[in-house]
Amino acid sequence: MRLAVPQETAPGEHRVALVPEVVRKLSARGVEILVERGAGSGALIPDEAYAEAGATITDDGAAIWGADAVVTIAPPAAADIARMREGALLLGFLAPLSSTVTTAAARDAKVTALAMEAVPRISRAQSMDALSSQSNVAGYESVILAAESLGRFFPMLMTAAGTIPPAKVLVLGAGVAGLQALATARRLGAVTTGYDVRPEVAEQVQSLGASFLDLGIEAAGEGGYARELTAEERAAQQQALTDAIKGFDVVITTALVPGRPAPKLVSAEAVEGMRAGSVIIDLAGETGGNCELTEPGETVVRHGVTIRSPLNLPAQMAEHASQLYARNIQELLGLVIKDGEDGAPASLELDFEDEVVAGSCITRGGEVLHPGAKAALDAA
Ligand code: NAI
Repeated sequence: MRLAVPQETAPGEHRVALVPEVVRKLSARGVEILVERGAGSGALIPDEAYAEAGATITDDGAAIWGADAVVTIAPPAAADIARMREGALLLGFLAPLSSTVTTAAARDAKVTALAMEAVPRISRAQSMDALSSQSNVAGYESVILAAESLGRFFPMLMTAAGTIPPAKVLVLGAGVAGLQALATARRLGAVTTGYDVRPEVAEQVQSLGASFLDLGIEAAGEGGYARELTAEERAAQQQALTDAIKGFDVVITTALVPGRPAPKLVSAEAVEGMRAGSVIIDLAGETGGNCELTEPGETVVRHGVTIRSPLNLPAQMAEHASQLYARNIQELLGLVIKDGEDGAPASLELDFEDEVVAGSCITRGGEVLHPGAKAALDAA
């Protein structure tokens, strides 16, 4: 079995889907690995490190895309998917709810496409949960960006020149990224508060030494995710948040609803109410942003408040983000690779009775199997 790692092509994507440590483990199982020349350069992993781990380095695009399995970070170009062999495995973030072009290309090429976003969030699959591993990176980075943009200290300082109070940090959306942001901000000495519409989150927020902002709106949805709020709930939430936000130096927003535009939690009025010099880091820029004044991908200053909405934050910490992602891929591959016996090559064997394999499968044999991907394609 040949498994290939192409160079990522999306602008600003510095991560790579496999790191040498994982190449070594897969090679030991009888998987032949091809790495496109320079694939690790964005994460500062030289070709030689892959070669030492047992991979073959190549410039041959036809060999890469003609492999039995291709692993990526971002959805590949449709033209590259079209180069894949019928029945081959494509594994990566494939954006099944938004990138209908990717789904259509995988269907037409009759490849078996498994999307990392669609891995069921069950205990057994935690080690394969790339959404979580990358959200952890984004949550951490968001606090570093906030600290860098804020002209104030995070920790309380008692000095001969006077006492500085600690920064107050509010995190809206306490999923994986939000909880990591709360933990990181507290490590830097800030006084932290978290908010979410899923009620079970309050305890997790408090366990990180943060207060929970309770606005009395509960919106737990399917699969552990939040549902979209009704118009009345939205209005009530925005008003309550506008009042609460005034008192914070930093607001970090991470609220997402799968397949929907990001909820607008921070109104223009709320920004106006913040003290000049305060900072908002909006991690929901890819789906429109949580703040009304956010310009996705940009840094803007409005009413004296710096609003930053970096896109694809995990790519900015490419080394560790790639390492964590590669382990997620290794674990998922563990479900679909059959070891070769007595030194024989490994082979692919997908068990569609397995809920992790079935749940993450987007296309197979020319059919779109994932309900969300199918609905998005039908609506396109
Ligand atoms: P996400 O990235 O989809 O959303 C981020 C947060 O925004 C969520 O906590 C969500 O409740 C919140 N949110 C959405 N709309 C909001 C609104 N209008 N106002 C305030 N907050 C809002 O979430 P993420 O980080 O992917 O986590 C989703 C769920 O999956 C969580 O319950 C998490 O604990 C669970 N999970 C389970 C795992 C497992 O058991 N293997 C692994 C990782 C996460």
